[in-house]
Amino acid sequence: TPLEPFDYVVFGATGDLTMRKLLPALYWRYRDGQMPKGARVIGTARSALDDAAFRDRARDALGKFIKPADLDPAQLAEFLDMVFYVSLDGAKADADWSAMKAVFADAPPERVRVFYLATSPELYGDICRNLSDQGLVTPAARVVLEKPIGHDLESARQINDSVGQYFAETQIFRIDHYLGKETVQNLIALRFANPVFERLWDSDAISSVQITAAETVGVESRAAYYDHSGALRDMIQNHLLQVMCLVAMEPPASLASEDVHIEKLKVLHALKPITPGDVGQVVVRGQYASGEMDGKPVPGYVEELGHDSNTETFVALRAEVHSWRWGSVPFYLRSGKRLPNKVSEIVITFRRPPWSIFPNLSEPNKLVIRLQPEEGIELSIMSKDPTPDGMTLRPADIDISFEKAFGRRYPDAYERLLMDTVRGDSVLFMRRAEVEAAWTWVQPILDAWKHGSPKPYKAGTWGPEAARAMLDADNRRWHEDMG
Ligand code: BG6
Repeated sequence: TPLEPFDYVVFGATGDLTMRKLLPALYWRYRDGQMPKGARVIGTARSALDDAAFRDRARDALGKFIKPADLDPAQLAEFLDMVFYVSLDGAKADADWSAMKAVFADAPPERVRVFYLATSPELYGDICRNLSDQGLVTPAARVVLEKPIGHDLESARQINDSVGQYFAETQIFRIDHYLGKETVQNLIALRFANPVFERLWDSDAISSVQITAAETVGVESRAAYYDHSGALRDMIQNHLLQVMCLVAMEPPASLASEDVHIEKLKVLHALKPITPGDVGQVVVRGQYASGEMDGKPVPGYVEELGHDSNTETFVALRAEVHSWRWGSVPFYLRSGKRLPNKVSEIVITFRRPPWSIFPNLSEPNKLVIRLQPEEGIELSIMSKDPTPDGMTLRPADIDISFEKAFGRRYPDAYERLLMDTVRGDSVLFMRRAEVEAAWTWVQPILDAWKHGSPKPYKAGTWGPEAARAMLDADNRRWHEDMG
């Protein structure tokens, strides 16, 4: 259904996220005809810019992140006409709010207004209070909170409490862009539209699950944020646990937000708690040292930073979902910077046949769900090697590339999610209870890490040796080592 005109206000509008993700996503939605005439995108930040200067920055960003072939000059101009700027320190109650209030002076009450907070989470509470004090929080208002919500359980609760004073839970959209990735959504289709998988989706048939989000980039220009965060807070607490919820949850009663959230929350509650004594066994904490990427030498994390740091750039951990479906099936979660490939994937390893009638042993069937790049699904099947003699088996793959199958561009996660906030559909967002349950689970790790330091790994390798040793101890291997 076509959307009614709306207002999209982005706090933190001069920042990296707005330029790299939000503006390109809004541009694509415009190109696909989803930005109705009269819709407005209002960037706001402290810098003293006017509309024209902000449009210049937006034009530069689009030029950088969108292929020239997709940037028709007339369309670009029409899109930029929808973009405005208000210079404002949104966290300050005594700032001059008149320009922001003027934006909404004539807006009809039913017109949707979204406040997207792409700022540091410490400011969320203040910005929401000010929006409310200025009379801008109407029933048609929504607020979008970027992750991470806080830096531990306590601060997450505080943020949720303060935002919750001014916005109802149904008006709050906690974004986790992994949930907007097409293949993550496809997981729901794969599991619940294809009995061939769902009937085997339990500890009787599955022996382990791996979820990896690997990146080749280092910390780059984001050191100020990243050094206070680290891989556990930046990737595991949100993205990887959210993906795990979709892999592990029971079939929801429907696709309604409430039904899906209930099932995800049950998974988080069923996670085997990590005790302080476990941390050394089930969690590997790494930090990249200098090494090589694509044959070129690259510096280590502390060299890039210019000072010592105990921040982890790699985490691998072993989780268990204690439920009838999963028993003690291990879920190995892993994420890191400066790893050999940019790849996000879920690997489901099935159990071996109970007995082999063949001369060589069967490899277990493996289902690989590729979130990126080359979104798709690969199922390895034991097949007869085509030689005229004997019956030797080898794994062969059924390989589906979604882009080929559907023959269309894969939208960025933010495109779907930004429009969902306008539509008011929160199924692909995190509820307060989920965020806090996820923090509750990782908190003992954060506590244990106040002491000791991460294990170094060479840039361009798959993390510290301890990550491999953790799987060795379970008689298992990481996907790239499976052969
Ligand atoms: C962000 C993290 O949430 O996700 C970044 O803050 C990370 O550190 C990014 O690089 C990875 O996202 P994607 O979509 O490229 O896998």
